[in-house]
Amino acid sequence: MNFKGASILSVDQFERADLQQIFDVATEMEVYANHQKLTRVLEGAVLGNLFFEPSTRSRVSFGAAFNRLGGEVRDTTGFTFSSMAKGESIHDTSRVISGYVDCLVVRHPEEGAVQQFADATNIPVINGGDGPGEHPTQALLDLYTVAKEHGKNLDEIDGLSIAMIGDLKHGRTVHSLTKLLALFDNISFTFVAPDELRMPDGILERARSRDHNITETEDMIEGIKDVDVIYMTRIQEERFSAPEEFAKYRGKYSLNRATYEQHCRENTAIMHPLPRDSRPGANELDNDLNGHPKLAIFRQTDNGIPIRMALFAMVMDVADKVHDTARDAIWYRPESIDTN
Ligand code: NCD
Repeated sequence: MNFKGASILSVDQFERADLQQIFDVATEMEVYANHQKLTRVLEGAVLGNLFFEPSTRSRVSFGAAFNRLGGEVRDTTGFTFSSMAKGESIHDTSRVISGYVDCLVVRHPEEGAVQQFADATNIPVINGGDGPGEHPTQALLDLYTVAKEHGKNLDEIDGLSIAMIGDLKHGRTVHSLTKLLALFDNISFTFVAPDELRMPDGILERARSRDHNITETEDMIEGIKDVDVIYMTRIQEERFSAPEEFAKYRGKYSLNRATYEQHCRENTAIMHPLPRDSRPGANELDNDLNGHPKLAIFRQTDNGIPIRMALFAMVMDVADKVHDTARDAIWYRPESIDTN
């Protein structure tokens, strides 16, 4: 695809060659993401970071990625303090903000809403999650993480086995990741979910149409045996209309160190888009796994920076100029930020 000026709304836009291009640029971004060097290639550019749903890592990492390229960021959070609370349409909000900024990131509770933002402007719009729809940048950073954790090039992703566990109906990250992985060959997908929270048929069809191996089960232990990657997800509380409905599934799946060590292969990587629900009764990914060498969740969040930097650099058409303004970073930063 032609990235210059493009909006990134769905993983459907990508072919395998595009993924390679994004990952090549992301690899170039690592020295900036790792705080060794700094670049000013987006100096003067402004990002509008509009989040109408709760977020910590996506909002901050989009902003930090733009900052690390030398650009500035203007954030809004929630509906309450935005003009949408006064009845403003998506069209008007998008057009107005586009006059102030050079690129938009939008998260919105309704599927398709980010597309509407993009329809109302010619500046690039990046989907930061649209309700239960998609989360394309998360899928990219997830795939980047899978490749790095297993020391694989993109071509070697063919043949991968992955168990996705939890709320597969409402989880936009697993929707996008499944579609992205379906671009490869011979993927073994094991979808572990209660019957009511199964992966939607449209996404299953996508995987089926390309002859991947698909298993659906409610049994987590069955699902986690013999896979390269476990991708745990949170039950998406905010997508249930009745609290008692949500309560039925809360805590149904929980992976801890003992379960992992008893049932998984030694090289199975453990991933989760985060946030994990660490409250008692939920705990889908137990804290006793913290510090385990195969727990990839914080490397996964770290990977959000080079991936999002790459996308910004590509849609703003400066990917080949990033190093032109490179300097060494001179501030103190500990060698490792991990305390365990
Ligand atoms: C996810 C999301 O918002 O879809 N978080 C994220 O962006 N990393 C997952 C979730 O909320 O469960």
